[in-house]
Amino acid sequence: MTGAPAALAVRDVTVRFAGLTALDAVSFTVEPGSVHAVIGPNGAGKSTTFNVLSGVYRATSGSVRLGTTELTGLAPHRIAALGVARTFQNLALPPHATVAESLMLGRHRLTRAGFVAAGLRLPSAAREARLHRDRVREIAGFIGLGEELEKPAGTLPYGTQKLVELGRALCMEPQVLLLDEPVAGMTSDERRRVAAVVADVRDGLGISVVLVEHDMGVVMRLADAVTVLDFGRRIAGGTPAEVQNDPAVVQAYLGTDA
Ligand SMILES: Nc1ncnc2c1ncn2[C@@H]1O[C@H](COP(=O)(O)OP(=O)(O)O)[C@@H](O)[C@H]1O
Ligand SMILES: [Mg+2]
Repeated sequence: MTGAPAALAVRDVTVRFAGLTALDAVSFTVEPGSVHAVIGPNGAGKSTTFNVLSGVYRATSGSVRLGTTELTGLAPHRIAALGVARTFQNLALPPHATVAESLMLGRHRLTRAGFVAAGLRLPSAAREARLHRDRVREIAGFIGLGEELEKPAGTLPYGTQKLVELGRALCMEPQVLLLDEPVAGMTSDERRRVAAVVADVRDGLGISVVLVEHDMGVVMRLADAVTVLDFGRRIAGGTPAEVQNDPAVVQAYLGTDA
């Protein structure tokens, strides 16, 4: 991470798929060190927003900037390298990878020495590997998995595996963390645990979090700011309390199961 934390500015982003406008000139700003939730009924454009921010979809028009750095149109790995990390639900892991090995995958972009030096057993590579291992241990402790480092990640309960994914993204030392429905499918205990970790990421690490989330309880408890989408348009924005009482938001949610 370099310099002061930067705001993530989404400006007039439009995404069209053959005949369908999934996002229509959407703008919002994720302030440094805040949790910013993007909510809305099914089909509102939440996942599309997530995919534009992470570079999986290319905006038809508009821009996304981190501080003064233009992210629009960059490939996902470039966006990640510039400090906007996401969680991956289905990143292929060796079937028996431990938690430590899974987290280390997040360090790869930061590994300068690379395979050649490591293969030659150069001292610099050994030193660098040790620093990465130390940092992995630190981050595991931060997310409450310090005791699970040597366990195969795949044998852990679902909610814990999701924390490993979150930890792997943190291992990239991001300025902004993108989470797409991080508590979906979890028990209420797991939800509370993940919500607490997300709050710690913001409060303890100063990382901004963009939270695309269906669970209103989690959004209301965690978010500093909320952007509400409906049919691809931004219909409201503000604090959780402000959007909760916004007539346009109430109307958008009426008659939906969201
Ligand atoms: N790759 C795609 N191709 C075509 N249409 C898409 C694609 N992704 C999303 N959409 C459409 O864009 C709209 C917004 O979808 P999405 O962003 O997934 O909504 P949400 O996540 O809020 O439920 C929906 O009408 C959806 O069908
Ligand atoms: Mg979605």
